[in-house]
Amino acid sequence: MKIVVIGGTGLIGSKLVNQLREEGHEAVAAAPDTGVNTITGEGLAEALKGASVVVDVSNAPDWEDAAAMKFFETSTQNLLAHEAPAGVRHHVALSVVGTDRMLQSGYFRAKLAQENLIKASSIPHSIVHATQFYEFVKGIADFSTDGNTVRLPPVLIQPMAADDVASGVARVALDAPVNGILEIGGPQQFRLDELVRRALAAWKDPREVIADPQARYYGMAVSERTLLPGNDARLGETAFETWITRSAAQISSAHPQPTGVAVATNETQKKEGREKAS
Ligand SMILES: NC(=O)c1ccc[n+]([C@@H]2O[C@H](COP(=O)([O-])OP(=O)(O)OC[C@H]3O[C@@H](n4cnc5c(N)ncnc54)[C@H](OP(=O)(O)O)[C@@H]3O)[C@@H](O)[C@H]2O)c1
Repeated sequence: MKIVVIGGTGLIGSKLVNQLREEGHEAVAAAPDTGVNTITGEGLAEALKGASVVVDVSNAPDWEDAAAMKFFETSTQNLLAHEAPAGVRHHVALSVVGTDRMLQSGYFRAKLAQENLIKASSIPHSIVHATQFYEFVKGIADFSTDGNTVRLPPVLIQPMAADDVASGVARVALDAPVNGILEIGGPQQFRLDELVRRALAAWKDPREVIADPQARYYGMAVSERTLLPGNDARLGETAFETWITRSAAQISSAHPQPTGVAVATNETQKKEGREKAS
């Protein structure tokens, strides 16, 4: 089956393309780097020719409110408009657990706009809501850092490995459309401050994490369960401990440092994925 992965060179996209190819499908990594741009429309008609399924795991390059809205609306409208004449039978999109509970953020208003366009279109669809990726934990820490201090609300979070996100999305893409939302999450719940503290310790990052009920998550006021999936969520298998041990080992072998700060980014992982998926 031909499956076009929009954002197929990104963190989730590159893993998804590899997994689908391993299962014997014709998975096409579609992104500006491979000549497909959902904003300008470049390469879209050609890429979608003969495709049964389109999976959109792209992300806005700029998360500022208006820029994110423009990206998700334009990209989704262009995609859906090209899918109908190409005879695409299933549109799958990756979004975030709790999107409709985080509308103080322009980014989540943009994700909701994306979801609403998909729901209103005639193409059968499945929207996958995932919890935060383990690979995103450093971004959470950096956003809430002031000097040497990371201040976070001690709310619950159930993060998951990007590998498990890709497997969860692959399973949905290969099943029949649900015409609704499915949730996927990680195997364990944490307090947000505890999760970030454990990650920074493993990466030998000296920042101190402080639990502050008044602190914001990515600039938003969140409550105890805002970030949690519901009881029906499909859960990934990779434990945070397993992932963080692997991540710390990768960092120290890539950047041997006798002392000092180890820097974790998901860029290394994306680069590895791109090399495999292209
Ligand atoms: N971070 C989290 O914890 C989390 C949790 C749940 C859901 N999500 C969702 O997961 C999705 C994927 O995230 P990710 O971290 O895998 O993203 P990512 O690594 O930033 O990858 C984004 C992909 O989109 C592509 N792209 C950008 N502009 C494009 C355009 N005009 N046309 C076609 N492709 C374009 C990029 O290509 P280039 O690299 O060539 O620009 C790249 O392949 C996002 O929609 C996000 O909302 C994230």
